[in-house]
Amino acid sequence: MSFNVRVRVVFYFISCLLVQSITSLCLTDQHRPQFHFSPAKYWINDPNGLIYVEGEYHMFYQFYPNGTTHGPMYWGHAISTDLIHWEELPIALSPDGLGEIYSGSAVLDVGNTSGLQTGSNPPIIAIFTQASDTQVQSIAVSNDKGRTFEKYASNPVLPSPGVKDFRDPKVFEMNGKWIMSLAVNDSIHFYSSNNLKSWTALSKFGSNPLEGAHGGVWECPDLLDFDFNGHKVWVLLVSINPGGPNLGSVTQYFLGDFDGETFRKFGIGHDLWMDWGPDNYAGVSFSNDPKNRKLLIAWLNNWLYGEVIPTEEWRGQMTIPRVLELTRVDNKVRLASAPAEEMELLRISSQFYEKLDALTINSGSVYTLSDDFTFSNPLLEVDVVLNITLGTADKTATFQFCFFNSLNEELCVGYSYDQNYIYLDRAKAGAVNFHPDFGKRAMATRDTKSKIIEMKLYLDTSIIELFADKGVTVMTAMFFPTEPFTQLKVAFSSANSSNQLTVSSFTVRGLKSIYDC
Ligand SMILES: *[C@@H]1O[C@H](CO)[C@@H](O)[C@H](O)[C@H]1NC(C)=O
Ligand SMILES: *[C@@H]1O[C@H](CO)[C@@H](O)[C@H](O)[C@H]1NC(C)=O
Ligand SMILES: *[C@@H]1O[C@H](CO)[C@@H](O)[C@H](O)[C@H]1NC(C)=O
Ligand SMILES: *[C@@H]1O[C@H](CO)[C@@H](O)[C@H](O)[C@H]1NC(C)=O
Ligand SMILES: *[C@@H]1O[C@H](CO)[C@@H](O)[C@H](O)[C@H]1NC(C)=O
Repeated sequence: MSFNVRVRVVFYFISCLLVQSITSLCLTDQHRPQFHFSPAKYWINDPNGLIYVEGEYHMFYQFYPNGTTHGPMYWGHAISTDLIHWEELPIALSPDGLGEIYSGSAVLDVGNTSGLQTGSNPPIIAIFTQASDTQVQSIAVSNDKGRTFEKYASNPVLPSPGVKDFRDPKVFEMNGKWIMSLAVNDSIHFYSSNNLKSWTALSKFGSNPLEGAHGGVWECPDLLDFDFNGHKVWVLLVSINPGGPNLGSVTQYFLGDFDGETFRKFGIGHDLWMDWGPDNYAGVSFSNDPKNRKLLIAWLNNWLYGEVIPTEEWRGQMTIPRVLELTRVDNKVRLASAPAEEMELLRISSQFYEKLDALTINSGSVYTLSDDFTFSNPLLEVDVVLNITLGTADKTATFQFCFFNSLNEELCVGYSYDQNYIYLDRAKAGAVNFHPDFGKRAMATRDTKSKIIEMKLYLDTSIIELFADKGVTVMTAMFFPTEPFTQLKVAFSSANSSNQLTVSSFTVRGLKSIYDC
């Protein structure tokens, strides 16, 4: 046993010990998210192998069990019965002679197509990249509800064609065949298989002809079918790094058709972003959701500064579970994200406030909404509808909706009437100097021209998730305040003082922590 292997074994036991007590964990370190998943310790990135099996949601993830920056990759593992409270389990997959364990997916092999089922229940098959000098795809089987995985003896199942970036297999079943989407350089390749063990190339999408954004490498594809007004519409999610509209990592999507072999994008159009915020990457959907939802979780971080964010025992967290749907906005079809209904489990019934009368705010005024409610909680769910009434053609009008603390640190969501974008500003939200780009304002161009801005916001100790325009304009971001934000204000400004902002409706709910403290 080499020194290196011995260290690994020691760390394996440490992580097992850690797991024993995790259900009664109380994690309160500064900036620790209180309702977003984060590992008790160490580094995480992409969610992997998201799957529901026999009453449990499994979330595997890129994990480095020996530090708080990216290192040799393992699959960490957590399970949940409600998508909200997660229990960390021992590491599911560790590096071997074929390489580190990079991103991938998991399926339930209901027909024993792989021949790898040993028990009475269908096995979980994990399909993942192994990375060394080259990248190849391997599989592993679990016949005990994901508690242990055995790698397939004849790995890899898809060898390297000699391209450097060849990774992140996402597999689903269609018409009795397994279909794999795989990121290859800056394109997506599709493969099919009858048994998950031997794969046939089908087609390619993304380069030649060039489609979408190509500012960086393509990663973590996911091909999803939606029933939309009686038609089947396919959405291809592709994460790209760098190349985001607000720097660094981002997830783009394509609307199109998939006939079982080839993905064809509909028409021509500008790039589409699933989430415009700086901190949403590598999101993929769950296999086998019992409610048949397109249920997505993403890594809530950005490669641009992900390894230097000021967290201590751990680095990296996941978004809340989101449900993807197609919707029509100003006569365009768009992908919309909504918080999964399980998020309602976090509500504290006694912490609810609803503003009953519309509130009018004159230009140059600030209204402190939190003066109207009595609870003080840094974990909030806010629903607000704002609308700007212009007396004249003056279009300089902007509003800012800000969370703040007693140190006058603030995190603001704003809107520019003229340019019709929503922005997220964390420049004054606490620590920003650990990276030159972290304090930059992030902007999202709206898909609708409506001047009514409807927003749903989730505020955690160090995370904001904003769903605007019914989930079509989404922004996710981290922030690191010196003390928690518990107060809320709205400000309006316009060159013409006769213009006004109306808060047409406003509700706020206090949320519980997922920890037992
Ligand atoms: C853990 O980290 C130390 C120091 O960075 C390194 O020497 C060691 O090889 C690492 N062990 C594993 C198992 O990655
Ligand atoms: C799964 O298929 C393999 C290969 O055909 C077979 O040996 C095995 O018995 C099957 N497992 C079950 C539980 O039927
Ligand atoms: C990968 O993409 C880059 C940029 O588009 C291109 O220059 C390069 O030739 C591609 N490499 C392969 C192996 O396709
Ligand atoms: C401001 O709006 C009022 C009311 O619509 C209008 O009468 C006035 O001319 C405007 N002033 C400027 C400077 O645009
Ligand atoms: C927008 O504000 C105006 C008042 O300025 C109000 O009459 C109208 O009902 C509001 N619209 C919505 C949809 O809230």
